Amino acid sequence: MALSKVWMSLFLIVITLAGSICEEESESKEFVVTLDHSNFTDFVAKHKFVVVEFYAPWCGHCKKLAPEYEKAAAILSKDDPPVVLAKVDANEEKNKPLASEYEIQGFPTVKILRYGGSVVQDYKGPREADGIVTYLKKQSGPASNEIKSHEDATSVIDDNKILVVGIFPEFSGEQFENFTTLAERLRSDYEFGHTLDAKLLPRGDASVAGPIVRLFKPFDELFVDFKDFDVDALVKSVEETSIPTVTIFNKDPKNHPFVVKFFNSPNSKAMLFLNFSSEHHDAFRSKYHVVSEQFKGKGLSFLMGDIEASQGAFQYFGIKDDQVPLIIIQTNDGKKYLKPNVEPDQIAAWVKDFTDGNVQPYKKSEPIPEANDEPVKVVVADNFQDIVFNSGKNVLLEFYAPWCGHCKKLAPILDEVAVSFESDPDVIIAKIDATANDIPNETFDVKESCCGCRTRIKKGGAVIMVEHHHYICGMSFREKKKG
Ligand SMILES: *[C@@H]1O[C@H](CO)[C@@H](O)[C@H](O)[C@H]1NC(C)=O
Ligand SMILES: *[C@@H]1O[C@H](CO)[C@@H](O)[C@H](O)[C@H]1NC(C)=O
Ligand SMILES: *[C@@H]1O[C@H](CO)[C@@H](O)[C@H](O)[C@H]1NC(C)=O
Ligand SMILES: *[C@@H]1O[C@H](CO)[C@@H](O)[C@H](O)[C@H]1NC(C)=O
Repeated sequence: MALSKVWMSLFLIVITLAGSICEEESESKEFVVTLDHSNFTDFVAKHKFVVVEFYAPWCGHCKKLAPEYEKAAAILSKDDPPVVLAKVDANEEKNKPLASEYEIQGFPTVKILRYGGSVVQDYKGPREADGIVTYLKKQSGPASNEIKSHEDATSVIDDNKILVVGIFPEFSGEQFENFTTLAERLRSDYEFGHTLDAKLLPRGDASVAGPIVRLFKPFDELFVDFKDFDVDALVKSVEETSIPTVTIFNKDPKNHPFVVKFFNSPNSKAMLFLNFSSEHHDAFRSKYHVVSEQFKGKGLSFLMGDIEASQGAFQYFGIKDDQVPLIIIQTNDGKKYLKPNVEPDQIAAWVKDFTDGNVQPYKKSEPIPEANDEPVKVVVADNFQDIVFNSGKNVLLEFYAPWCGHCKKLAPILDEVAVSFESDPDVIIAKIDATANDIPNETFDVKESCCGCRTRIKKGGAVIMVEHHHYICGMSFREKKKG
């Protein structure tokens, strides 16, 4: 039996950070260094710190970034030592192996290469010149800065960010070394500081002498201390305690880094969607917090999303506004469990039912069409089994997205094909709206890919659009031969 293979693009999360209007620049000297397959490795090997943009000439977001990137390169070239910004045309055939080596999945992707290329990290900063400069200055400087005064402390600790501070009796020894390694490893995600004097820290107390690592965060218990200086243990502690008990998803951009962390976590994900402006918000919040505390460290993460910001998620899960307040749990194998019109008092019991295995998975489906008598048959999740697997026929199935231009072009052709096979009892030509129906994943190699810009593809398929764009870049399909 030849299995059919279906390639298609699905949803992506695209986080476009504040863009700014770019001015036309008639700069003669280019500060951004052009690299290609012939000189990339040599060039990178010679530098302690290089920033590389992988771009494609056709990509709109790359064009938007280009003048900002160039402006930043010009400013940073005056730094001492200068910070080098480079670019690679990843669309160029000869550069494609380079792009796959760096796992480039969308454009533009910017990477920071340290120590001759031996350490590679994602660029996670803004996309306008000033922001790029600030971010890269920080990235090219020391991973952790000494906190020597109250002023130093207040300048690095703010109400939106996580800061990890090492408190030491002296800046030497194995604990200090391990802290420095921690800071190097996680520097693209967190800010680090070190101090000899715990008194300088807010919420600090003079009796803390160290060595100790204190993580400040703008939520939950506000700070946590770690004393295990094993590097891996430190990394784990930082990663674990920097996720809020309940991640808030609304239009406030300062919550977005935590939303990204939520989706990157290996846990199952519980999401409660409701109207934050409604009078019941507080009741839900307090009940939900109790439940999430209860499940802390048990493989389940919690998010609370405002209906006003969650339309992308609703579309993805096939949720209707009138099902809200609603709680949905997505597990890492892509299964979903749904409790629509939930009340605050029902949350705890339902989550317990879920963890006890007493909740049936939910499948997103359009209604089964009543007639289905057009030449191209309509497949939805609920009749997928009957038409595609149990009909005993050869089925050519198109997975499409309503907004996809290539699909629109294909539609009349598929119609024509269907008409010409109408008299063949062994063949079904069909289509399924892949955005409105869950696809059985065991059989179809459903692949997410993209031609987007800065993209995050979520593990387990859970995606919330933060500021979203949809891209369907291409698809192909083959005949499924049964028997
Ligand atoms: C790398 O090679 C390309 C193509 O030959 C050239 O345009 C570019 O200037 C070279 N870059 C460096 C840093 O030598
Ligand atoms: C520092 O980290 C290493 C490896 O991660 C570990 O073996 C060592 O015990 C740590 N040192 C201290 C003092 O915890
Ligand atoms: C949320 O609740 C507020 C206040 O009751 C209401 O004005 C608003 O329309 C609601 N939003 C949605 C999307 O239902
Ligand atoms: C499909 O589901 C299996 C478990 O049922 C999971 O391990 C796998 O990652 C899923 N594949 C994709 C492409 O999501």
